[in-house]
Amino acid sequence: MNFKDWSGDLQKNGTPYIKKEPPGPVSMEMIQDAKNFITSCWAGKKCEVGDAWDLPLTVKRVSNSLIEDVDGNVYIDLNSGISTMNFGYNNPDIWSFAMEIMDDYGIRGIFPSNDYNTPLMLDVSKNLLKTVPHGDDYRVHYACDGTEANETAIKTAISYTGRTCIVSFMGGFYGRTMGSLSCMAQKAGDSQTFRPLRSANIYFAEGPNCPNCIFCDDQADCNGYCIEHFLKDRVLSYQVNPEEVAAFILEPYVTGGLMHPARPEFIKSLREICDENGIVLIFDEVQSSMGRSGKMWTHEHYRVEPDIFTTAKSFGGGVAPLSAAIIKDDIMENLPAYHGSTYGGAPISLAGNMAALKYMDKNNLLDRVNKLGLIVEDRFKDWIEYDTVWQTRGWGLLKAVDFRKDKNTPLEQYKNQVKNELFKKGIITMSGGQGRYLSLLRIIPPFTIPQDQLNIALDIFEDIIRK
Ligand SMILES: Cc1ncc(COP(=O)(O)O)c(C=O)c1O
Repeated sequence: MNFKDWSGDLQKNGTPYIKKEPPGPVSMEMIQDAKNFITSCWAGKKCEVGDAWDLPLTVKRVSNSLIEDVDGNVYIDLNSGISTMNFGYNNPDIWSFAMEIMDDYGIRGIFPSNDYNTPLMLDVSKNLLKTVPHGDDYRVHYACDGTEANETAIKTAISYTGRTCIVSFMGGFYGRTMGSLSCMAQKAGDSQTFRPLRSANIYFAEGPNCPNCIFCDDQADCNGYCIEHFLKDRVLSYQVNPEEVAAFILEPYVTGGLMHPARPEFIKSLREICDENGIVLIFDEVQSSMGRSGKMWTHEHYRVEPDIFTTAKSFGGGVAPLSAAIIKDDIMENLPAYHGSTYGGAPISLAGNMAALKYMDKNNLLDRVNKLGLIVEDRFKDWIEYDTVWQTRGWGLLKAVDFRKDKNTPLEQYKNQVKNELFKKGIITMSGGQGRYLSLLRIIPPFTIPQDQLNIALDIFEDIIRK
């Protein structure tokens, strides 16, 4: 099946192409209009340039790593919809594969996957679990988005252990529904309004937040206080007994809040504590998996097996929403409570997943992620010399620049300025950070971005921060 690929049209004037300085008049008019009809991410959100979406941008067409707005500007996208479009927008190969798969299985679009078995779901799951280390020991529960997968993981752990407390690790982002939100301690403003509805049974430990560490000045001097003193002592001894704790939940690679992977020792210690106390270890890999960190699954970097890990974002191949909680067999053998999802594992999403895995394999995409990641790292060697750049970090194509004067002086305003200048010059980026450290710009392009476009975008980035 042939899908129209309009990338040629978008590139005809060169990329990026600025016809009207962003935000252009048509884009702004449509944003004003949209405010009467649509609510975007409204909770606590203020756009850094306009006042609605993350950027004052009204998108007309997209193709791979390019976005055309309604004013005729064409941008290079270094955000990939926060890792939702790892394989590029409108990837014609993935769409063709997905349509073929649906035709082969005689099933399209939506189907009540919650109620009946299908060969498609069976084959997708077998195919998927082949990519997971010790995949034979896991089963897949499908859902629609990241927060639903995390709710599934939390409910599963509570049902399995018969315990009702969770230890969550600060700095991670788990989602916007009440269970996931209750586990979040990243930005106080995000939970303020809903505080009365948050579960009282969540206890907070320090996450793998090394760049913002409160125990040591430099990562090189790590004394492991976050585990030995804070988690073991202040949390599991002062506040809640380990035998009351159903699960630990954390992002092993803290994405939006920090863009920093945990130290291996941190992850190994958590595994040990969970094993000693019958606690379920949940990894949120919603943003960092599907190849983004340079390996298919984030925990592969650590050679540690979580009891449950969650994934979403690009899990449906960019074709349709899909998420999953991937759960150890022995947990699934013993679950008294009920859980389900009407649309989780819809055929179109499953076909998107299967198509994406085929595409990754066919194009050695993990190698490409690591190769492009090295190109970014190479540029970082120069950028770190600029006064405003405190750190550059990240694995694979999950990278960020942290703008600070020093560890305790984040340059949030400067970061916003860089982001806005990038936007005006045709480069899309996304901010990041936690607490008062809102000093990050993420570099998370689609894996399929042409190398010349990546270089152009990085040149423009460097021109701005060099000033
Ligand atoms: C790490 C992480 N976990 C969970 C979520 C929640 O996912 P969703 O927005 O699909 O519910 C997100 C979304 O940004 C995320 O980045």
